[in-house]
Parts: sequence; structure tokens; C-alpha cells
Amino acid sequence: MNKHYATYSRSNDCFSSNCPDVFTRASGCHVTADDGREFIDFGMALRSVILGYCYPKVDDAVKKAIDKGISFTRSNPYEGELKELLKAIIPCCEEVKFGKNGSDATSAAVKLARAYTGKDIVLIPEECPFFSTWDWFIADTPVSDGIPWDDSTRKYSYNKMTCCGVDLEKILKEESHNIAAIILDPATVDITKEKLQYIRGLCDKYGMVMILDEVISGFRYSLNGVQGLYGVVPDLCTLGKAMGNGYSISALCGRKELFDLGLRDKGNVFLLSGTYFSETTGLAASIATIKELMEWHSFASVGDRMKPSLITAHDKLKATGGAIIAFTREYIKKNGLEEHVSIGGFPACPMMKWKDLRLKTIFDWKMIENGILMPYIAPSLSHDANETYKTLDTIDDAMSFVKYALTGDLDKFIDANCRGHVERPIFRRC
Ligand SMILES: Cc1ncc(COP(=O)(O)O)c(C=O)c1O
Repeated sequence: MNKHYATYSRSNDCFSSNCPDVFTRASGCHVTADDGREFIDFGMALRSVILGYCYPKVDDAVKKAIDKGISFTRSNPYEGELKELLKAIIPCCEEVKFGKNGSDATSAAVKLARAYTGKDIVLIPEECPFFSTWDWFIADTPVSDGIPWDDSTRKYSYNKMTCCGVDLEKILKEESHNIAAIILDPATVDITKEKLQYIRGLCDKYGMVMILDEVISGFRYSLNGVQGLYGVVPDLCTLGKAMGNGYSISALCGRKELFDLGLRDKGNVFLLSGTYFSETTGLAASIATIKELMEWHSFASVGDRMKPSLITAHDKLKATGGAIIAFTREYIKKNGLEEHVSIGGFPACPMMKWKDLRLKTIFDWKMIENGILMPYIAPSLSHDANETYKTLDTIDDAMSFVKYALTGDLDKFIDANCRGHVERPIFRRC
């Protein structure tokens, strides 16, 4: 079969070489490769499948939508229904525009912020790896060829609250007349209420728009996102991924005053628009996914390492991810790997960080060998106790494998045990 990778993060260099290239079936949290191998999946299609693959309530809603016709010459009832649902649950959401992916939504947010403030520069956190495939973001990565010169973003450090090594507020005192917005992806940093409030305060004080990119955190951290969980409301937020349980849907939400600039009788911003942006499968999937997240509950525990009780969808996501964080920390410690790898983050969205991609490759190799596909960790409602235990045991095993690898020459180890292939970062120059 011809390999074709429509997405950089699905390509060979993001996986160990024993990982299958092509998957043909998925159900719950189980996936089957074209060579017949089966895996427990913790990647869940780039963290988009939050309920589980082939989730009947979502797929049935989509099939019903298909039977009624998926695209119309004007609007359809799903747009209005999803808009009202988002307005009810997303704190900053006075207005909504729908899209099909996160990149378009974050880029529309940036455009709106620039138009609203009349300023150009957007502050991007250096700790967050990705916001958009659009030029405003890619221009400041190592793969910027083909983009006209663009100097309209600056990096800031979320961890240190600095910009170019200088205290962020000091920079703002001098430069805020040029700065339109601060953007943040709360899922890839250690988010705290205090830091969110600090950023909110800076935006208010210096006339900047606060953009919260909730493409990963939305519907995963809580039904109301990070903004609901911490009670800090941005001016604009973007949603995608878990919003449609894998179906293509995204949204830009925010304050009406800003959105008005995208209405043709009130402003001149060409906001979000596309032939397929009101196509009904993604909208229907999103309505069904959000309703299921609201209604889901279980009396079952996530396993005998937890006390049984009545749990909600987000309790379960947190319990599964929390167990992975806690036990993985133990395995890291047990194997003396603290200086090489760490795990943390919000329980429903654990983040494992390796200092050396050679070690991540060795770890991933062992995980794949034992039937776990875990390039990153996205717990879903379909990960039950059995799958979580098997994954924990495999992580334990894989950490010991890494420890063993570290007793000798790593490159030789990879040549001998991992076919010489090392995973590589997506953003790199050739
Ligand atoms: C934080 C964040 N924002 C935006 C995007 C872009 O979303 P999409 O791939 O749907 O365009 C991603 C994708 O991984 C993301 O992680």
C-alpha cells in the first residue's frame, strides 16, 4: 500500500519504526493495523476522540444527519443548536463561528484581535508547541520557507513571565501600543489560576486581547474548558479536537463586541467562512459528543486501585489520566530516570516529557512491542480498568528497558534494538 501522511504528526518520524503505518479499524480505545496487529490506543487520533472510537451515540447522530442531507444552500438547524449549547457552557462565548479545524479558528482569533485593537503583534508562549498551520504562526518556526517576511509575533515565556529575558510587564509598559494579543494553550504548560489571572490582568491593563486556545483543553479539562475550571474568562477562545469526538469541527467563541467586526454591516473583518463550515456531520457529532459528556455517568470505578463511586465523564478522564501520571512517576523513580523524563499536567491530559528523543524512541518501541500505541497520552471514556492496567504494566516494562539502554552506548542500542530509527521533532530544518 502507498504510504501517505496528510498530517506531519502522523508521519514516520514521530513513531518508533516498529509502529504500523496504517490502521484499518478502531473501536472504543482499540485499534487494528493493516498487518493485523492490535493495540490499546492512547493517542486517540491526535487527542480528538474523547468518548471512544465508533461511539454509537455520536455515529448514530451523524448517520441521521447524513440521511437528511449534509450540506445546504443556506444554514441548517444544527448550527443554531450547537451555537446555543456552546453559549450555555463556554464562559466567554457570547458569539460563535464554526470551522473544520483548530488552525483556522486560532488564526481567525488572531485576525480579530488585530482588527479590534488596531495593533499587529501577538505574543506567543515559547513553551506551547503549536497553534496553527497559518503563516502568522509558522513564520517563526524552522519551517518558514515560502512565507513572506513576517515579524508580527513575539515569543514570551509562560513559565517565567518574561519576553526576551525581560519581565513581561516591563516590556508591555514600553511596547503595548504595538501588541494586539496574548495567546496561550493551557494544555501544554503547567496552568495555574494565578497565572491565568495575571495574563487576564495584563490584557485589561494594556489593551490587549486574551486568546485562550482550548483546542486541546476544551471539553477535556472540564465541560466548560480551562476557563470554566479556573474562572478566568478570555476575550476569545478556540475549540476543536474533542469537540466532535474525531469528526471535523472547530469553533471560535468570544465577546460579541469583537465578533461584531466580522458582521458585514458592523466591521470589515473577513472572519471564518468556508463551503464546508456548516456541513452537518461535524455539527451533529459535536452536539452528540457534548450531550454525552454532560450526561455520562457510571457507578463503576476505574479499577480496584480506586474506590467505586458515582463518577461523571470528567471524573473518569481524570481518574484514568491521574493513575497514569501517579504510577508512571513511580516507574520513573524506580528506574532512576528522573533526569531524563518527567510526567505531569492536568490529569485528563497528562504530558510526558523526554529530554532526549532517542530515549523516547526506545520507550515507544517497547510500548508498541507490547501492544500500546501511546505517542502522547489522551485518556478517553473508553479506556477502562483493564486497558489502564495493561498500559501501566507496559509503561513499567518500557521504563526498565530505557534504564537498561542507558547502561551502554545509546546509538548502538538503537541500531541493535530499534532498527536505527530515531524519532525527530516536527519543526526542524533539513
Ligand atoms: C493547541 C492547538 N491549537 C491548534 C491546533 C490546530 O488544530 P488543527 O490540527 O485541527 O488545525 C492544534 C493541533 O494540534 C493544537 O494542539
